[in-house]
Amino acid sequence: MVHIPGTIVTGALYGDEGKGKVTDVLTAESDIVVKWNGGANAGTTYVIDGKQTILHLLPAGVMRGQRCLLASDMVINAEGLEDEINQVGGSLNLGIDPRAHVVLPYHISQDIAMEIKRQKSTGSKIGTTAQGIGPCYEDAHSRIGIRMCELTGNPDSLEKRLRDNYHLRKDILEKVYGVEMMVPKGRKFDAELVKVDEQELVDNTRRIGQLLKQYIIDVSKEVRESLPTKNILFQTSQGVLLDRTFGNYPMVTSSRPFPGGVFTSLGLPPQVFNSFGVVKAYMSKVGSGPVPTCLDAGQWPVNEAMSTEMGKLVRKKGGEFGATTGRARRVGWLDLVALKHSCDISGFTQLALTKLDTLADIGDLDICIAYYDPSQSHYGDKLKMQVDTVKGCTVMSRKGSVITTYYKDWDFDYLWNVEPVYLEVKGFSEQDVRKAKSFEELPEGAKQYIKTIEDYVGIPITLISTGPDRNDVILNGFRPF
Ligand code: IMP
Repeated sequence: MVHIPGTIVTGALYGDEGKGKVTDVLTAESDIVVKWNGGANAGTTYVIDGKQTILHLLPAGVMRGQRCLLASDMVINAEGLEDEINQVGGSLNLGIDPRAHVVLPYHISQDIAMEIKRQKSTGSKIGTTAQGIGPCYEDAHSRIGIRMCELTGNPDSLEKRLRDNYHLRKDILEKVYGVEMMVPKGRKFDAELVKVDEQELVDNTRRIGQLLKQYIIDVSKEVRESLPTKNILFQTSQGVLLDRTFGNYPMVTSSRPFPGGVFTSLGLPPQVFNSFGVVKAYMSKVGSGPVPTCLDAGQWPVNEAMSTEMGKLVRKKGGEFGATTGRARRVGWLDLVALKHSCDISGFTQLALTKLDTLADIGDLDICIAYYDPSQSHYGDKLKMQVDTVKGCTVMSRKGSVITTYYKDWDFDYLWNVEPVYLEVKGFSEQDVRKAKSFEELPEGAKQYIKTIEDYVGIPITLISTGPDRNDVILNGFRPF
């Protein structure tokens, strides 16, 4: 079998799929772990021997003392990184690309102000994580951003650039948004807002710059040179449906969390890598936007009074509350139409299915295999045939509705109005799922659930997570590199 030195791990839908767990399993075989997009908006949870660690910026390799790299398309909160370095202690083997941009307090302030403005003018917010991600990428694109090379370079030039940017943002905040430059205390989502002091910003940023200097290295070059001899894991933040282009724009993040982004972030020529799409056994989403299979009311934030009983149960069982923000996530049945879209643009070579145990002991399960499109008035035989090819599926035809398997990521009228066509799968018990050590030992319903996904998207599920701990996994033809 040909050895492929690079493996990419990506969330297949809206993020929070349990990538941390899958990445942690993959690190057993890797030498280097690279994070290459996003910033402190991500929160990755690792559970090892019952001990939970949540990281936002550092890659999973930290948990095994491996070489960890932060690549150029990341936006790095300097203070946040300092905290995480202290959190993990002395054994850190870290490299930071000088091209990565730095998230500063004025980005966070602008992020919050923009959300308030969106709410006022359109009646809904994106539901960002308030980590300054959008405004930092905005600076990168406007070519006024401060990059890691500047942060850790000459402190006097850095000071000048900081003061310029601070005043530019201050003017925008005060004159356009009518607010002061404020940030949540201790960078905690929803904490009391405190004013950003210019001198403190300068002193603190200069200090952190000097501290981070030791980690700066050309990550792109290191990865290119290491590929012939090392196993490199590329860890993505967020998920494909939050991709700025192929996700549900504008309810997306500002980076490109689909596997194609690895090559631009690392400066790598296109080449074949292993690519894992991580998919949770059900759907969850933080933030606004249409989700056809949602078991909560469409709106965001979640209003439990309007959720279905099943929605409340799945959220509680799955602990679906954000690791970064603590906000309740919307939940719903797995949507294979959306997943197929994600697989088609991502080119996953394997899927990892997480949180199968959450779906146990809740009765029979629904899985969405197509949509009824109420905007079309005739019955679509051709599309119906596509749906019928799903193994074991009986589709109830509904007079007057077209059945479609087309996921139009950009078309909100369509996505808000389609209704899921569900296939019902027999439920299973948690005890049976937990005790299975191989695919064959899983209960019938769980096996049918997994086979339905595999047949629909045409990609093997080679890792099945059956519980939170590092060891709660079933490998089934799993190939890390
Ligand atoms: P931002 O990335 O903070 O700008 O937020 C944009 C959208 O992406 C919001 O709906 C967030 O809730 C969502 N988002 C950002 N990061 C994550 C993540 O790591 N998991 C899930 N959703 C995320």
